[in-house]
Amino acid sequence: MLGARQFLFFIAFCLVHLVSTDEHNHVYDDNEEVVLWMSTVGPYHNRQETYSYFSLPFCAGPKAMIGHYHETLSEALQGIELKFSGLEIDFRADVAKTEFCGLKALSDHHLKAFIYAVKNQYWYQMYIDNLPIWGVVGEPEDNNGEISYYIWTHKKFDIGYNGKQIVDVNLTSENKVKLTPNAHISFSYEVNWRKTNVKFEDRFDKYLDPNFFQHRIHWFSIFNSFMMVIFLVGLVSMILMRTLRKDYARYSKDEEMDDIERDLGDEYGWKQVHGDVFRPASHPILFSALIGCGYQVTLVVLSVIVFAILGELYTERGSMLSTAIFMYAATSPLNGYAGGGLYARMGGRVWIKQMILSAFMLPIMVCGTAFFINFIAMYYHASRAIPFGSMVAVTCICIFVILPLTLVGTILGRNLAGTPDAPCRVNAVPRPIPEKKWFMEPLVIILLGGILPFGSIFIEMYFIFTSFWAYKIYYVYGFMLLVFVILMIVTVCVTIVCTYFLLNAEDYRWQWTSFLAAASTAGYVYIYSFYYFFFKTKMYGLFQTAFYFGYMALFSLALGIMCGTVGYIGTNAFVRKIYSTVKID
Ligand SMILES: *[C@@H]1O[C@H](CO)[C@@H](O)[C@H](O)[C@H]1NC(C)=O
Repeated sequence: MLGARQFLFFIAFCLVHLVSTDEHNHVYDDNEEVVLWMSTVGPYHNRQETYSYFSLPFCAGPKAMIGHYHETLSEALQGIELKFSGLEIDFRADVAKTEFCGLKALSDHHLKAFIYAVKNQYWYQMYIDNLPIWGVVGEPEDNNGEISYYIWTHKKFDIGYNGKQIVDVNLTSENKVKLTPNAHISFSYEVNWRKTNVKFEDRFDKYLDPNFFQHRIHWFSIFNSFMMVIFLVGLVSMILMRTLRKDYARYSKDEEMDDIERDLGDEYGWKQVHGDVFRPASHPILFSALIGCGYQVTLVVLSVIVFAILGELYTERGSMLSTAIFMYAATSPLNGYAGGGLYARMGGRVWIKQMILSAFMLPIMVCGTAFFINFIAMYYHASRAIPFGSMVAVTCICIFVILPLTLVGTILGRNLAGTPDAPCRVNAVPRPIPEKKWFMEPLVIILLGGILPFGSIFIEMYFIFTSFWAYKIYYVYGFMLLVFVILMIVTVCVTIVCTYFLLNAEDYRWQWTSFLAAASTAGYVYIYSFYYFFFKTKMYGLFQTAFYFGYMALFSLALGIMCGTVGYIGTNAFVRKIYSTVKID
């Protein structure tokens, strides 16, 4: 067992290093060049609205750039733009206060840009040896009603080292200069090296915020959800016992008794529809594509969480996204296998159409949203605008990796899992669906189905949203895994109960109902995201708003497909189980 964890860690490690090409090995000799990368600048409250650092009239230092920096694909997709600062920083060589560049006679245009940035609380991000550093552009000052704007011009870096490695960086902004027309502004920097005892492995700990991710609240919410799980599992086992008990009892009695019992009207509710429950779902192409996609999304989410637990992915820029893209491509065969197999079992013939829909459903939704956001980003000249090269790369991954792998999966699925295996024969003529009470209508069941699963995750949703939309690094992936498992169990139980009521009302359209009842969780998440936007954040502006609601919709869709599929898988097993004991004359 000792080896298993290390082996997994090794795989995760390889994966991270396979997909992100970092040119640093984090070891420096004395006086070796340390590169300060200027990343982005943007308003504090709009985390995703970022611009290239030099889009503001800042100036770079005199040092010429040697070498070349390659952004990884996921960095480009996340709008991380790195520009060399031009500052001379060498390992363990202190630099006294040095002026590195200046703006002579601030022009009107530049003055406006700086004042706008200070007014909107712009701050910028830099990197030294992968460690992020933040600083504010300036601050307003109120002198008896007259507001003047100041800009910080001196950057003081305190860099902590341990052996040959950089383990800590602090930035202090000093020397405010008032922004006035024709002002002369000169920028300076200073570097002090300090020996510290922080271990290299622990250098990201200071960015984590244990006070925010209160473990007490976490445990409390998990305890609550766990109680719900116990209750639901109890309910489902009760239903299973009730439906199956009579049949088991019947097997132990002799045949005569059985017939009498059946004549006496045992055939009610769910048993009545045995000739229709295994009728293929309507819109089989869409349905099987959704299920195939759901298998894939579930596996990707699960594996990314596990890799995040093992590999501390937050310490490398963009490695989370790289892992997700890699896993998505690698799990494409599963999508084809599950979707193609299901489609074949439902008697589908146009399998190529189904496969293409299956393979491209999620990529097209993602690219569509990104494309739309991209237009706005380009209009704003934001660094989020995805470069043309990255778009080509993503398209190539879709066509040359995802599609062939899905094809392989689909062919395997159709051949190995494509024969119909329903326990009951399907009648030639569909049974009419009787009138029923309003709360037994599929639509109502679908809407009610998502409430409990949503209840089990919404506290975790708050933490996840805050780490994405505000400045918290999410690191409690163990909790996330626990919540994920609880969500899956609750979803399966709730959909089984929903389906049981639906079938008892002699309505056999359970496939879509179970899928949508589980998927409606995502609808509640999307509604919650509106609440979060208006009451928990201070985002503003067209770009950030479009970005927020666009990507939240995408997140909810993926969550919906995932929950829907898990709900369907569980319900499918349940339905097979209860109908496998029904005897057909
Ligand atoms: C950075 O600031 C923190 C908190 O003020 C301090 O504990 C740490 O020693 C500083 N690091 C360096 C290298 O000065």
